[in-house]
Amino acid sequence: MEFKKFKTEDEASKYVADLILEELKQNSKLKLGLATGSTPIKLYNNLSNDYKINKTNWSSVLSFNLDEYLGIDKNDPQSYQTFMNEHLFSNINISIENTHFPKIGIDYDELINKNGGIDIQILGIGTNGHIGFNEPGSSLDSKTRIVDLTQETIQVNADKFFDGDQKQVPKQAISMGIDSILKAKKIILLAFGASKKWAISKLKSIISFDSNFPASSLILHKDVLVVTDSEAELDL
Ligand code: GLP
Repeated sequence: MEFKKFKTEDEASKYVADLILEELKQNSKLKLGLATGSTPIKLYNNLSNDYKINKTNWSSVLSFNLDEYLGIDKNDPQSYQTFMNEHLFSNINISIENTHFPKIGIDYDELINKNGGIDIQILGIGTNGHIGFNEPGSSLDSKTRIVDLTQETIQVNADKFFDGDQKQVPKQAISMGIDSILKAKKIILLAFGASKKWAISKLKSIISFDSNFPASSLILHKDVLVVTDSEAELDL
């Protein structure tokens, strides 16, 4: 696992955007695994701005989002599909039919597999070490499935996206599993801000998989880049 620390979230997000754009220039059929949450917003802003200026062609790109809330409509303002449309898809020339979200009744892992697998998987990290919505207790061989959100995740997401109202936060989601995530060829995990300090210092000290800290599974992958700002990672 490689760690790369930037002074600010802006610099880190620009670095990752440039890395993706570089890959996209080499491979117009890039398959991206995408994350939601507050962390990748600046990355998506950078990619959107690039499209405005350089018109980088996204028309053959396939995207596979990590997770989606259950119990709300895909067009709900709080759905992850709406989030992706607003922050990225409507700002670039990706074909909407090339964008995918896990859904009940679809074998999402098979769909990803059938399309050749994910080239680059973007991840955030929960304050409790979750990746996607793989909460503590998730197993290494977990596939895309329905998951219950922990109280901590519900509270964090209520504060960030639901005006602090836990009652509005869906209690379940459908998420790619740890096994699904580890199948990506390259993984880039982003972590910004002081709230991620504990998770990042734990990730740096990991020596083996610990199901209580799902991000520890990344130690088993051969190409993981962890990109932080100076608030999330103080001791480098
Ligand atoms: C959310 C999402 C994850 C995300 C993580 C961190 O609940 N399910 O995909 O990476 O938690 O969120 P944030 O980026 O808002 O800190």
